[in-house]
Amino acid sequence: MTRQPSEPYRIKSVEPITLLAPEERAERIKRAHYNLFKLDAASIYLDLLTDSGTSAMSNRQWAALMLGDESYAGAESFRRFEETVKELFAKRFVIPCHQGRVAENLMFSILLEPGQFVPNNTHFDTTRGNVLHKGGVPVDLPCAAAHSDEAHPFKGDMDVDALSKLIADQGRDMVPMVIMTITNNSAGGQPVSMRNLKDVAAICREHGIPLYYDCARFAENAYFIKRDEAGYGDWEIAAIVAEMFSLCDGAMMSAKKDGLANMGGFITLNDESLYRRLTELEILIEGFPTYGGLAGRDLDILAVGLREVLSYDYLDFRIAQVDYFANVLRTAGMPLVEPPGGHAVFVDAGRLLPDIPAEQFPGQALAIAFYVEGGIRAVEIGTLMFGTTDPDTGATIPARQELVRMALPRRVYTNSQIDYIGEVAERIVQTKDSLRGFDIVYQSQFLRHFTADLLPVEEQKLSVR
Ligand SMILES: Cc1ncc(COP(=O)(O)O)c(C=O)c1O
Repeated sequence: MTRQPSEPYRIKSVEPITLLAPEERAERIKRAHYNLFKLDAASIYLDLLTDSGTSAMSNRQWAALMLGDESYAGAESFRRFEETVKELFAKRFVIPCHQGRVAENLMFSILLEPGQFVPNNTHFDTTRGNVLHKGGVPVDLPCAAAHSDEAHPFKGDMDVDALSKLIADQGRDMVPMVIMTITNNSAGGQPVSMRNLKDVAAICREHGIPLYYDCARFAENAYFIKRDEAGYGDWEIAAIVAEMFSLCDGAMMSAKKDGLANMGGFITLNDESLYRRLTELEILIEGFPTYGGLAGRDLDILAVGLREVLSYDYLDFRIAQVDYFANVLRTAGMPLVEPPGGHAVFVDAGRLLPDIPAEQFPGQALAIAFYVEGGIRAVEIGTLMFGTTDPDTGATIPARQELVRMALPRRVYTNSQIDYIGEVAERIVQTKDSLRGFDIVYQSQFLRHFTADLLPVEEQKLSVR
């Protein structure tokens, strides 16, 4: 049995949720064109679509909300937010944004020329989308262990030899920045070791290439370093964070994760001329640099959340709850990406459903089954999200893995709700041979999984006939 510390908080406010009847769920997902992003939240019992913007706020955050200074320029809320970000990450400038993808858009708009390469341990989907949107080439350089069954505590690491090779092959001028995604969401939410951050930073320094973090889950990453990397066991989480960020030139953060907030993001960096160019663009597309698309109260919530997330007791419970969840799914017979990451359990739908080919999205088949069987929403991270089309043949180029991500919102669900998911998982495993794949009947050019319409394979054939 996985060790499970009990919650270091108590519940003060509750939100009722309802489990619809199975026939109603089947009808609603059909009406949503088999795209879980298109379901109304009221159709869902347990929502594991994302850990982003779904955290429960603390009493201190709710209290901070009332301090929000909604002045257009120079709000006190911004000063409190700025002070927190500077204290944690020790960079000179802080640019608030309403969420992470705006930080990405601003950074790539200024730093990236068409045709240039952006290496990343693994791009998250919006990061990839924003690099492509600016004409750049996103290059994923996960370490060898990332996609193997080998037990490795830091599967989020970057392949440093591949990074050196990319820079040597393409030339330094074609690589305007290196990004480390911490933790590595699209590679199973796996953490990055301090050793790897140091090695990547050294390569970047050698070539004069700036290193930026995509640090949505920096505190969870720091917890893993404390727990699993030699030499850090006695360190405070805040000290590990300081060491991590001493290695980079700046960071982009979707603060909807480890900011313990429902909205927010920022860029923090040292380069003054880059700061000026970023804020000029920010004023055009996002807002004045002391609010950046956020209300003053959002900034105050973040100022508190970014500190709360450093609590060892909070992180110890959080990571243990994800472990508990993984154990429940494993016991039900679901093959998982091992070990589980910090914010989610990734089910290997490719292994569970080997008869559904990648171009029929086994991950989507499994995610839909979780909804129909149990009112649970998860997200496919496989060929629907990351597959591409061969421009010559029109054939699908599959993603590396066919996964379903079941993300745990922070401080939201209890372990008895997790046990319920285990019962649903068991029923799906027992009936898995009846699951069908899907075809896309509509898709957009970028980030197609958000808006695509799908049909179960057989229905598609019937409706075409
Ligand atoms: C690693 C990572 N980067 C960037 C983003 C995008 O952030 P946002 O959803 O706030 O735009 C996410 C969101 O899940 C993420 O996990």
